[in-house]
Amino acid sequence: MPKGPDYQEIEGLIIPKAFSPKCLRDSLRYKPKDNDVFIVTFPKCGTTWVQHIVINILKRGLPPESFEEFQRLSPFMELTGTGIVETMPRPGAIKTHLPFNMQPYSLQAKYIYVTRNPFDCCVSLFHHSRTLPVYQYSDGTFEDFFEIFINGETEFGDYFDHLLSWYEHRNDPNVLFLVYEKIKADTRAAVLKIAKFLGQEYEDMLVKDEQMMENIIRQTSVEYMKKSTNKHFGSFFGSVHSDEEIDNENIPEGLKHVLKYMKSINFKPQSEFTFVRKGIVGDWKNHFTQKQRERLKRKCIEKFKGTEIPEFWPDILK
Ligand code: A3P
Repeated sequence: MPKGPDYQEIEGLIIPKAFSPKCLRDSLRYKPKDNDVFIVTFPKCGTTWVQHIVINILKRGLPPESFEEFQRLSPFMELTGTGIVETMPRPGAIKTHLPFNMQPYSLQAKYIYVTRNPFDCCVSLFHHSRTLPVYQYSDGTFEDFFEIFINGETEFGDYFDHLLSWYEHRNDPNVLFLVYEKIKADTRAAVLKIAKFLGQEYEDMLVKDEQMMENIIRQTSVEYMKKSTNKHFGSFFGSVHSDEEIDNENIPEGLKHVLKYMKSINFKPQSEFTFVRKGIVGDWKNHFTQKQRERLKRKCIEKFKGTEIPEFWPDILK
């Protein structure tokens, strides 16, 4: 039996064991407000990057200043719970990792879905699970993790089913379907596309103001985010919080749950959190054996049959 990170299953969905089951249940029942924007992904497909692009656009060229501000403007609903989502200053963007059939859905809300090639996604999720202490997976091997991934048993379920569930909706007027590798290849075009989707005024703003556009591209670059975002995340998740600090009413319910969970597993403080890691295309080549490569490629061919998905990643799937 391959050993995976610490997970739990709630309402048929696999989530990290550190998450509050109640917050997940509340999230599944959240009723979107008109004009809610959601950023939806399978984990490690570029969520944080697109959250930062959206926040930089909504803040008219300014990046989030702290972890707290980032959470306020773009809460991860299944993690934080719905309280902070209800009070989110609007416009904001709610992050979820839900497959389409579980996603709170409204025709009046907007959905940005981001996907990434499954090879790099698998590697990124492996490192994420090894690095974050709540998974209790610092000794996890890629060999084991690969089996968990290819069998669709990681957090938030099966990568392929997740992608296919949203791919069906890629042309819906309230859905913007993005591919990580394409954002990387032409970030400017992607930022403009996202701005237009958020509202014509945002696209006009960027077309008129080249300096703002350049600032946004710089402030959402992997180099910039490696410094600022990892520092922000580390400032919250890197230390052991006292009971008094956890009780603070400004901390969302689900984050309190995680902080208590971290204490329960005797988490050791760490100043840096490499949430933003390499941010490149093709790191999978440093991890996959030839056999693993062939197996995942076969699975892609079988699952993506009849779709245009292979064209997203012609180099890998040719
Ligand atoms: P790697 O682990 O391959 O480096 P998510 O935000 O969905 O959890 O995705 C995390 C992945 O996106 C990580 O991939 C991370 O490094 C990458 N990423 C984060 N910010 C990025 C940026 N500004 N540009 C490119 N990739 C970024």
